[in-house]
Amino acid sequence: MPLKHTSLLSLATLLLAAITPSAFAAPAQLPLLPHNVGSGSVAAFLEKVGSVLVSASKLAYEAEWRYATNITSDNQEAATEAELVLNELIISLLAESRTYTGTTPDEKRKLHLLSLYGGVPTSTADQRALSTVQGEMSAIYSTARYKGLALEPDLTELMATEREWDVLLDAWLGWRHVTGPHLKYLYTTFATLSNIGAHDGGFADTGAQWRAGYDMDGAAFISHMEDVWEQVLPLYEQLHCYVRGKLGEVYGEERVDGKDGLIPAHLLGKFRVRQ
Ligand SMILES: *[C@@H]1O[C@H](CO)[C@@H](O)[C@H](O)[C@H]1NC(C)=O
Repeated sequence: MPLKHTSLLSLATLLLAAITPSAFAAPAQLPLLPHNVGSGSVAAFLEKVGSVLVSASKLAYEAEWRYATNITSDNQEAATEAELVLNELIISLLAESRTYTGTTPDEKRKLHLLSLYGGVPTSTADQRALSTVQGEMSAIYSTARYKGLALEPDLTELMATEREWDVLLDAWLGWRHVTGPHLKYLYTTFATLSNIGAHDGGFADTGAQWRAGYDMDGAAFISHMEDVWEQVLPLYEQLHCYVRGKLGEVYGEERVDGKDGLIPAHLLGKFRVRQ
C-alpha cells in the first residue's frame, strides 16, 4: 500500500508542470557537479523525475485502489509488489538527486521536494514489511464491524444523526474495541519501519521528515506552529466553551462538564472529532 506516497503523483505533476522552457534554455549556467548517472544537467534530471514518477506512481495507485475497493489477499499482494517497484525507482532517483545541488531557487526547491520522499527503507525486506503492515491496518479499518455495522457508512451516519447518549457511547467504544487493540501492535511496527525509512532517507525520524515539508527548516516550523496556535487559542477556547454549554443544555451540565474540562468525544458527531 503506497500510503506514504499519497502526494507523490502531485509532486510528479508539479515537477512536470513547473519545468519551464527557460530551464532548458540555460545549460551554460549549470555548474559542473559530480554525477555518474543521467544526462548530467539538473534540468534534464528533474524532467526525467517528472515523467518516470508519473507513470510508476500511476501503476502503484491503481493497484492500491484495486485493493482499497476490493480487499483480498491477492490484491494486497499486488499492491505491495507495485509499491516495491515504485520504491526501487524512488530510491534510485533519490540517490541520483544527491549528486545535484541545483542552480536556481526553483531547481533547489524541486530537489528538496524530491528528498521528502526519502521515507523508504533501504532494505527490501523492511519495505515489504512496511507495505504489508499498512495494508493490514487499512484492512482492519475497512472490514471491522461492531454489531454488524461498518465504519462507512453505518457508524459514521449513526454518530452524525443519533442523539441518545448511551447509543453514541456504545458505538464510540464498540468501534474502538474492534479496531484499536488489533491496530496497536501493527502501528508500533509501522512507526518503527517508518522511522527506519526516514532515517535511510537522511532524516532524524519520520517527524523530522514531515516537518521538513513546509519550505522552512524544522525548528522554524515548530516555532511557527507555536505562534499560529497562540493566535487561534482564544477563538478555540471560546468555541469549546460555547459547544460545551450547548451540549450541557441537551445532556445536562453535570454529564458534559467533566472535572477535566474536556467535552466527551462521543457527543461531537464524528469518530475523528474534527467538527
Ligand atoms: C476482487 O479481486 C479478486 C482478486 O483477488 C478478483 O478475482 C475479483 O474479480 C475482484 N472483484 C471485483 C468485484 O472486482
